[in-house]
Amino acid sequence: TNSRRQLVAGNWKMNGDKALVEQMQKQLAAASLENMDVVICPPFPYFGQFDSKLKLGSQNISEFDSGAHTGEVSVAMLKEFNCQYVIIGHSERRADNHESNELVALKVAQVLKANLTPILCVGEPESVREDGTLFDYIATQLDAVLLKVGISQFAEIVLAYEPIWAIGTGKTASPAQAQEVHAFIRGHLAKQDDKIAANIVILYGGSVKGNNAQELFSQADVDGGLIGGASLNPEDFLSICQAAN
Ligand code: G3P
Repeated sequence: TNSRRQLVAGNWKMNGDKALVEQMQKQLAAASLENMDVVICPPFPYFGQFDSKLKLGSQNISEFDSGAHTGEVSVAMLKEFNCQYVIIGHSERRADNHESNELVALKVAQVLKANLTPILCVGEPESVREDGTLFDYIATQLDAVLLKVGISQFAEIVLAYEPIWAIGTGKTASPAQAQEVHAFIRGHLAKQDDKIAANIVILYGGSVKGNNAQELFSQADVDGGLIGGASLNPEDFLSICQAAN
């Protein structure tokens, strides 16, 4: 733990149903998590089902304002449904939807323009870690966004480090591996602005569970988590939140 306000976000991905919305709201309403921020990122159809006390995030957004873009959802629409955060650049979207670093940067700019908080995801495939180019890879992902929006806008951004080999695999980065990359990211931003680097919230994502959250979150540069599978179980998710509170 550190002086930054910790954040835990649950990324439901393409999972969940109305019943889970109810269970999750009940579980979180009964909990006292005053010292941190908790965000749920459900699929779009469920946005209207949440009561306004919960912080909501979207898993994606269109880079356009409105218009002839079949199948897309705009930031303005999300704002009407109490959405405060938007996950951008998740590795699943980079892979499934061919989102390039440049498109990710455009989407971050779109979210910032709407005064919402992007949760910008970066992270390497296993092959990159093995061939020793991990830091270059992460730097390139960050630099595309830095180039587009500038360092000052990073005051409004949350980052998430998600090593692709740790997503949904049950294989978690060790606390030391997570800390190493988080420290690298902070250092990379510090080259442009010390203060923004010191204050930015950097989440770890990749097989965070109730039994490993505490150790991961206790690392100096880890400020909470972006949770996939375990965010679909209200009790597990609550225990992860409690580890950050
Ligand atoms: O965005 C969260 C994520 O990709 C991690 O997923 O299932 O490994 O917790 P999971």
